[in-house]
Amino acid sequence: MKRMGLIGGTGLDHWGEPVRAHELTSDYGQPSSVLAEYDVEGLQIFFLPRHGTRHTIPPHAVNYRANIDLLRQMDVDAVLAVNAVGGIASHYSPGALVIPDQLIDYTWGRNHSFSMGADDDLQHVEFTHPFSANLSTKLAAAANRAGVEIAAHACLAVTQGPRLETAAEVRRLGRDGCDLVGMTTMPEAALAREAGLDYACLCVVANRAAGLDSELPSMEAIEVTLTGAMLNVRKLLTTLFEELSDGR
Ligand code: HPA
Repeated sequence: MKRMGLIGGTGLDHWGEPVRAHELTSDYGQPSSVLAEYDVEGLQIFFLPRHGTRHTIPPHAVNYRANIDLLRQMDVDAVLAVNAVGGIASHYSPGALVIPDQLIDYTWGRNHSFSMGADDDLQHVEFTHPFSANLSTKLAAAANRAGVEIAAHACLAVTQGPRLETAAEVRRLGRDGCDLVGMTTMPEAALAREAGLDYACLCVVANRAAGLDSELPSMEAIEVTLTGAMLNVRKLLTTLFEELSDGR
């Protein structure tokens, strides 16, 4: 792999001092930020913070199409997305890292496709397995090598936000078979598929989902959890980038 996209979520709005910043425009409007470029021993990384560099863009207002279009313009070989989520399955406690292999989309009213009008190419992309098995496997292997605990094979619910869920909504998500809940993987994953980009997701559990804990979810607690968990995410991604640059 030579070129890789990295989309940062809540808790990962910056990666470090870039070697270059690409101020690209998109036919789909304003992306979340300029694209920051990093070089890891020949592997070019293009980082885009989904919520903007000052974390001001809410999940339902992210311009997912412009963001994926930028990464497509940079001709990346794959995209890794980092997402803060709530844990529904009992073993997903705050701080856990999980690689989902399935999702259910509960979002609405977003621009879900690059095919939105009569003049666009109508695409019915195949989406049976929404995440790249190849990149997910590499991510799990890098976690093992980095000594970072990680789980795989989870189903992620993607809700509209920006509010958190009600307790009844979380119970329903659990009955639907969801293990995790976040707000930003859709339509991002489907747009990546339409753009022909391999896409995998790294979920960072920020809290127990609504109604599952004796405490109500609080933004302060979520922030503290994410600050700690992002140290593991950085360690894991640094190892992944080294391995990918080695051609593994
Ligand atoms: N629900 C949805 N999205 C989230 C949550 C949650 O509990 N925590 C972090 N992102």
